[in-house]
Amino acid sequence: MDQFALDALERITTRPQEPYRTFALAPLTPVLGAEISGLDLTKELTSEQEEEVKRAFLAHHVLVFRDQHLAPEDHKRFAALFGPLHPVALPAEDSDPYILEISADSKSREVAGNGWHADGTADIEPSLGSMLHITRIPETGSGGDTMFANMHLAYDLLSPALRTFLDSLTALHDGARPWQLAGQTPPAEYDVPRTEHPVVVRHPETSRKLLFVNAPYTSRITQLSAAESTALLDLLHAHVAGTPLLHCRVRWQPNTLVFWDNRCVQHHAIWDYYPHSRYGRRIAIDGTRPRA
Ligand code: SIN
Repeated sequence: MDQFALDALERITTRPQEPYRTFALAPLTPVLGAEISGLDLTKELTSEQEEEVKRAFLAHHVLVFRDQHLAPEDHKRFAALFGPLHPVALPAEDSDPYILEISADSKSREVAGNGWHADGTADIEPSLGSMLHITRIPETGSGGDTMFANMHLAYDLLSPALRTFLDSLTALHDGARPWQLAGQTPPAEYDVPRTEHPVVVRHPETSRKLLFVNAPYTSRITQLSAAESTALLDLLHAHVAGTPLLHCRVRWQPNTLVFWDNRCVQHHAIWDYYPHSRYGRRIAIDGTRPRA
């Protein structure tokens, strides 16, 4: 590994970790994700528990809570600790406007999130994060894992010269693109978002830099020719997908809740369980405009 990459890794893995008093925390990898045990999310958290969950979220970016028998109101109450709830982009008729059902079975021909992406980055203000509560896992007892990638580290592992170049760029994110890639057109009622964001942004709470492009939404690096933009975006997407060091993988059990920071991780829902079924509910939280 190059020295700059070793330095980046060392910065993360030797960070001082203050202990948690109100729950136990087990990291999923040294660079991404942690499982928290000892909290019951059906109950209101104490202010100390809330402060510690927020600290763990900023440190690990993906938090896993097992055995959470949550009603939709519990799920919403926990999500609301982090900010106003983010409405679902195209809610189904008569559905709760803040709950996205994640559902797949033998009739499915595609599933949500089956590829590396961040959520809704064509919006001016993409969501802060999402909480997915899976209640049904495939009947086989395995499959349907979700992978996550640390986009701070994705940036840090690039050479200093490429990082400096990327720092100067912006890119268009196009809400029609995921539909087009799937061979579809967006529904007429969808007010398609299109926004230009910096290619490298800072996390609004920690100020750490991160790479902010993703394959389904980022259509073009504004300052480059079409061919250059495609080549550079292909390189960056291949870097995210092809660097296992950036990743953690969550294996779901019924009643697992996972909360990820959409500002600094990408995720990939693995559809390896067809024709079996999987079901859960996702609630997102409002974010802010990404800034360089
Ligand atoms: C998504 O939010 O993209 C789906 C995640 C999942 O089903 O694991």
